[in-house]
Amino acid sequence: MFQELRNIIDFTIRNNTKYSRKNFKELNPELIKRNFQENLYTEDVLAQHLTKTPRCYAKILDVGCKNWFYAQGEYNFFKSFCNEIQLDGIELDAHRLYTNFYSRYEVAKYYIGSLNNTNYISGNLLDIKNSYDYIIWFLPFVLKEPHKYWGLPLKYFYPQKLLMHAYSLLNEGGQMLIINQGEVEANAQVELFRECRINYISLGEITSKHFKYQNSRYGFLVNKKL
Ligand SMILES: C[S@@+](CC[C@H](N)C(=O)[O-])C[C@H]1O[C@@H](n2cnc3c(N)ncnc32)[C@H](O)[C@@H]1O
Repeated sequence: MFQELRNIIDFTIRNNTKYSRKNFKELNPELIKRNFQENLYTEDVLAQHLTKTPRCYAKILDVGCKNWFYAQGEYNFFKSFCNEIQLDGIELDAHRLYTNFYSRYEVAKYYIGSLNNTNYISGNLLDIKNSYDYIIWFLPFVLKEPHKYWGLPLKYFYPQKLLMHAYSLLNEGGQMLIINQGEVEANAQVELFRECRINYISLGEITSKHFKYQNSRYGFLVNKKL
């Protein structure tokens, strides 16, 4: 109850003020190295699980992209088989501040600064109307607790609606990759697919030689039929 009230107040304040320090740059060599490895991980995981269909142009959406520290990995993967790409990232809580007073949005500007046609959108997935060839969704909130813990008001907790909407944005022949953290969330994801009557392929545990996260991750692939 208290946490919900705090989340509502904090979320409202940060979205109205949009306060942030400007011009973020990562200078810590350890964190730069970790980010490099996480981007290799991202590129590798996409290469393991998505189909590389050569295209002149592909539109890609990343859902809940936070500060988009892994955008480079996504960009490199899609550019490896598409001449041109439009890479959009949507984040509901873009103005959340880190302890150094930079917002996610400001940090994301640093990570996507050198990537052509890459667009960070501060907003709700439900307001996206474009269609996409690929949708990438790392660690969606499928349970209430993590959603609350990350500071979001409960009025934004509607995982079924979000999944249905994401699926509706996918072009025919398109692919959506969803990765969940831990078995409990992966089981909740399966239940969501069932409730939404969306067919999926279970990819099992997601691993890469480039990086290992502390908690196991599990993946699901949705192929939208032509
Ligand atoms: C667990 S985080 C994952 C962040 C990032 N994808 C990663 O792998 O580190 C889930 C993110 O989804 C965002 N989110 C939740 N609901 C959303 C919505 N309706 N539209 C857009 N983003 C949303 C949250 O604010 C949060 O940043």
